This record gives sequence, C-alpha cells and structure tokens, in this order.
Amino acid sequence: MYPIDLLQSPFYLFNNVVSVLNSALLSRKVAPGAQPTLADFDVNIQTNTGFLPERPLPRLPEAYSSWENALTRAQEVLILGENIMEEDTQSRADGELWRLRIRELPVISINDLNTDKQLLRRAHKVLAFLVHFYVHSMPPDQTAGSVIIPRSLATPLLQVSAILRMAPVLTFADTVLWNWDLINPELPVTPENMRFGVELFSGTEDERNFWFGNARVEMLGVEILQLFNEYHSLPNVSDFASVCKINRLLTRISAVVRRIEEVMASMRELVDPSIFFWQVRPWFNGSASGPSKPSWVFEDGPDSSTLDLSGPSAGQSSVMHALDIFLDIDFKLQQRRCPAPSDANKRADVGFMERMRRYMPGLHRDYLSYLANTSRPVRELAKSTPAVKEAYNAAVSAVRKLRDSHIRIACLYVVSMSRSTAIPAGCPVFAMMRRMERQQNQGRSTGTGGNELSLLLKSNRDATARAAIKSS
Ligand code: HEM
Repeated sequence: MYPIDLLQSPFYLFNNVVSVLNSALLSRKVAPGAQPTLADFDVNIQTNTGFLPERPLPRLPEAYSSWENALTRAQEVLILGENIMEEDTQSRADGELWRLRIRELPVISINDLNTDKQLLRRAHKVLAFLVHFYVHSMPPDQTAGSVIIPRSLATPLLQVSAILRMAPVLTFADTVLWNWDLINPELPVTPENMRFGVELFSGTEDERNFWFGNARVEMLGVEILQLFNEYHSLPNVSDFASVCKINRLLTRISAVVRRIEEVMASMRELVDPSIFFWQVRPWFNGSASGPSKPSWVFEDGPDSSTLDLSGPSAGQSSVMHALDIFLDIDFKLQQRRCPAPSDANKRADVGFMERMRRYMPGLHRDYLSYLANTSRPVRELAKSTPAVKEAYNAAVSAVRKLRDSHIRIACLYVVSMSRSTAIPAGCPVFAMMRRMERQQNQGRSTGTGGNELSLLLKSNRDATARAAIKSS
C-alpha cells in the first residue's frame, strides 16, 4: 500500500479519530507532580468493586439494537459448530441464518458511544461475544484454514477496542468484570445483590459458576488493592511504627490470598470438568487456537498477526497481576534469583503474563505500570529490613501455594479432560470423538492462548517461589 492509500484508508482515518479520543477520554489525566488516585485508573475502591465498574453496564441505545438482538438470539439458538452432526439440520439452518444476518448487517458508526465509557465497554463485550459466537458456531468443514470476521462486527470492534486500548477479542473484562447485573437495581452494589455470567455461550450453570468463581476472586482482590494503597500512602517506611504496619499489611495480603485459594478450590463443586472442557471452553478459543486452529481475518481490518487475538483467560486478571507486581515476581526470568530456573522453566512461554496485559482495559494496564514504577518496592524493603522479610516471604509463599492449587485445577479441568475417553452427557458422541482424535493428533494440552499448559503454569509457580528472600 502506498502512503497516499494509507492516508485515504478508513483505518487511517479511524486511527486518527481514535488517538484524539484516547487522549481525551480513556487515558489517565493527572496534573504534573500530583499523585494519581485509584479512580484515575478506573479502580473503584469506594464501591468495593475494584476493577469491576461501579455500576453494571447498561444496554446499548436503540441504534445498536441489531447487535443486542443478535446476541440474545445467539444464546437461544447457536451451538458449537463441532457438535453439529450432519443430520442435525435444524441447528445447521439456525446457525447459517444467524451468520447470514450478521454478514448482512451494516457497519454501524460508533460515534454515539464515544463519550460514554460504560457504553464503550458494553459495545466491546457484545461485539466480542458475537465474534466468538460467529466463529465457533461454524461447523469445522467451514473453518478450514481461516475464518473471515464480517466487517459489520470487525470494524466497530476494532474501533471500540482502540479507544478502550484493549485487544479486539473476548477478554477477561468482557466475561468477568463486565458480565454482571444487579438482582435488585434499587439496592446498592454488594456481592449479595450481584448476578454474574449474564451473557453465556453454553447457557450451563457450570459456565456461569466458572465466571462467578473468577468474579469472586476479583471482589476479594479489592482488599488487596486497598492494602497496596495503604502501603504507598505511608509517610515513610523506616521507623518502627511503619515497619510494624507493613508487617500487618503483608500478613493481611497473605490472608486474602488464602481466601482466593479457597474460592478456587470451591469451584470444583460448582463447575463440572467435562462440561467445562467440552461445552464451555471451546467457545473461548481465539485466532489460531483450539484443535482446528483457524486463523481469523478481520474484513477491512489490519493483518491479524498484528492483533492480539488469544481469547479470555484469568491470566488477564488485573488483581493477579497487581499482586505479582507488588511482590516483584519475575516471570520473564530477568533477575538473578535462587534456585536458578530449570530447563523446563526456560522452555516455558515466559512472555505470557506480559502479553496478557494487552487484553486488559488500557487504564487497568496503566495502574499496573504505576504500581511497577513505585519508588518503594516492597521486596527491596524486605531485603534491607529483617523485620519485614518474614511477612514478605509468607505472602510470596501464599501466592506460590495458590499457584500450586491452580496447577491441580488446570490439570483436572484441562489436561485430564483432554486425555479422558469419557463422553460427557448431552454431547453428541461422534462429534466428541472427532474432537478427541484431533486433540490426540495434536499430542499435548494447550491453554486458551495456545500455550503449553503445564510448562507455563509450573514456570510461573517457580518464578513466584524464587521471589522469596533467602537467609544468606
Ligand atoms: C476451573 C477453574 C480454572 C481453570 C480450569 C483454569 C485454567 C487455566 C488455564 C488453562 C490457564 C492457562 C492459560 C490459559 O489458557 O488461559 C490458566 C492461567 C491462569 N489462571 Fe486459571 N483456571 C481456573 C481458575 C482460575 C482462577 C479462579 C484464577 C484466579 C485466581 C486463575 C488465575 C490464572 C492465572 C493468573 C493464570 C496465568 C498463569 C499463572 O499465573 O500461573 N485461574 N488458568
């Protein structure tokens, strides 16, 4: 493409508009020299919702009803394309018709959403769900090689994502942070009055509980964010009273991490591994992931290889990243720490966590950068202040234990299921067999983002353990 073509291309124009909007609407605006507050990063401490918005997302205005209606319809009729059998003509026909309607939709301007971040979030969520419904409702014979995402979805999703500064694909934000409403809209936002998993792919309670489990972790995480805030607000960190306070803060952080571990363990009772693996997880796959690995092409969009298109993962949870950053966990193996990384650690995808940040809303990523650039790193303090070391190491150990439990969960829900020969109830047997064959040919279990799962999870666990400060 010649430069002049680029100037005239809708994408160039749109990028210009976006960059103006970015600076105006969704970038952190803090006066030079002033300390940012958590509200500057869209982190809600007052309402105790943390990275969740203060209020549930409203429906989009009438001009966007075709998107909203398509999402409602998708949840009523679409099933996973790989579960559709030749003889299931009704599901095939429903899916074909739904996808045809999507291709026929006009490209709707997002101008009316520009100034309202709740509506922009809603648009991202609705469009990203539609894209995943579109791709994964196609029978495998239609997805060989690549899938074209129609411009009716591709163009507005790219635009909205650019304004929110996040990936143009379904993310943790869409499925957890923004996927709730109030049971009684007249009552305040409290965990008891929140209903999670408003939008679902499979419609199963297991899927709802999966999102609910993740949301509970986010809600518990609010206390951790408050504790970080208290730490950064201390006038100094060297006097006796401050050291005692830091000890207490770290001890409270450890206690919250242990509660997160309990929530994670409780998911075993609420989420059936085979339903999760066969009926829920396939919907999350992004471009070039999953057994048949079609790559996505955004009609009128840039080359897909320049976009982040992995799909949602709790690896995108800002709470977990904040915790890791606060404790200075070195996933990229850049620091000299003991014990040295094993060969398996070095073979893992050490850039995974950093990449996952690109799926977060831009302001949350800004918060993490702010946390990372603090002039008061707690690990350094713990190294130089023996009285803090024990509490710091205990917090590291709690996160290491959490990752150990997580490995067991991921093994149960993903690794064992991919090897299992049990056919889950409610799934067409032959479709399942086809998929199992494909997975066996693939030979190993991969994560949503196409990562070699156990290498990644163990490497992150070991990186966590390595943060502990040794006696010598
Ligand atoms: C049934 C429950 C769960 C399953 C089956 C599961 C599975 C996975 C898988 C397969 C990955 C690899 C990357 C990917 O494919 O996305 C992953 C990563 C991750 N998950 Fe989970 N997960 C579960 C619950 C949770 C919860 C509740 C949390 C929050 C505490 C969490 C936090 C993470 C984090 C932080 C990563 C990034 C890798 C790491 O830091 O070790 N997961 N999970």
